[in-house]
Amino acid sequence: MPDFGYNWIWTHGHLVPAILFAVVALLALRFRWPRWIRLAAILGATWALFAFWIVQEKLGLNRAMPMPPVPFMATGAGNVIDLGAGSGRTAAMVLQARPGARLTALDKFSGSFGIDDNTPERFHRNMAALGVGGRAQALTADMTSIPLPDGSFDAAVSAYAIDHLNRENFTKAIAETRRVLRPGGEFLFFTINRDSWLRFSYPFLHGHGYYGRESLQEYWKSRIREGGFEIAAEGVQPGSYYILARKAS
Ligand SMILES: C[S@@+](CC[C@H](N)C(=O)[O-])C[C@H]1O[C@@H](n2cnc3c(N)ncnc32)[C@H](O)[C@@H]1O
Repeated sequence: MPDFGYNWIWTHGHLVPAILFAVVALLALRFRWPRWIRLAAILGATWALFAFWIVQEKLGLNRAMPMPPVPFMATGAGNVIDLGAGSGRTAAMVLQARPGARLTALDKFSGSFGIDDNTPERFHRNMAALGVGGRAQALTADMTSIPLPDGSFDAAVSAYAIDHLNRENFTKAIAETRRVLRPGGEFLFFTINRDSWLRFSYPFLHGHGYYGRESLQEYWKSRIREGGFEIAAEGVQPGSYYILARKAS
């Protein structure tokens, strides 16, 4: 089984308030504390348990990401670069859904970004556990300066990674993404979308990079078009907004 290493605070943290609220509810029932305390504790425990279910079943932080229904690498084959691959959730999605793909997992592999032990070794262990290790290799590098020749890839993917960068570094990284893609190459982009699932489970979590007045969708489409891409498709999954783009000529 792969272990994508997302910290327990993210994957199981809701169990802490669930237990605390449940204990208060039981004490309130046992010692006949005021009715509002019982109600508040029961509501709190219900919120925490439902939020825990959302994290496990809808957001699936410690599972491979689901491939959205878009014609990304439609032939099922080609060379793809995963920008900010981390422990491999996105890489696993691509390699499982596109059996002829070969993937380069670029990451700084320094700093956790919520992933414990965010290293090339963890990435390789996870790919091997999923039986796709022969088609994946990790590359320690910064996506604002990719140490690879022009036109090396048919496709690129980046999930919750390129969108982490500030505006200046995002501009550099998307220019680098464009440079390493062949003409007409594809780019599949994911960012955090504060939909109802996310608002309920992580009320204080803000999206990445986006603080604008326009909608999140318009903001990211503009940034990707400015980077020299045409938008081919877009959509949502629980907690995520994605764009499929093509390198413009
Ligand atoms: C939240 S994780 C996402 C990992 C993976 N894509 C996923 O969906 O699970 C963000 C990743 O981006 C990487 N990262 C952030 N800035 C980077 C940069 N400038 N160059 C390369 N990798 C970077 C971090 O090291 C981290 O592994």
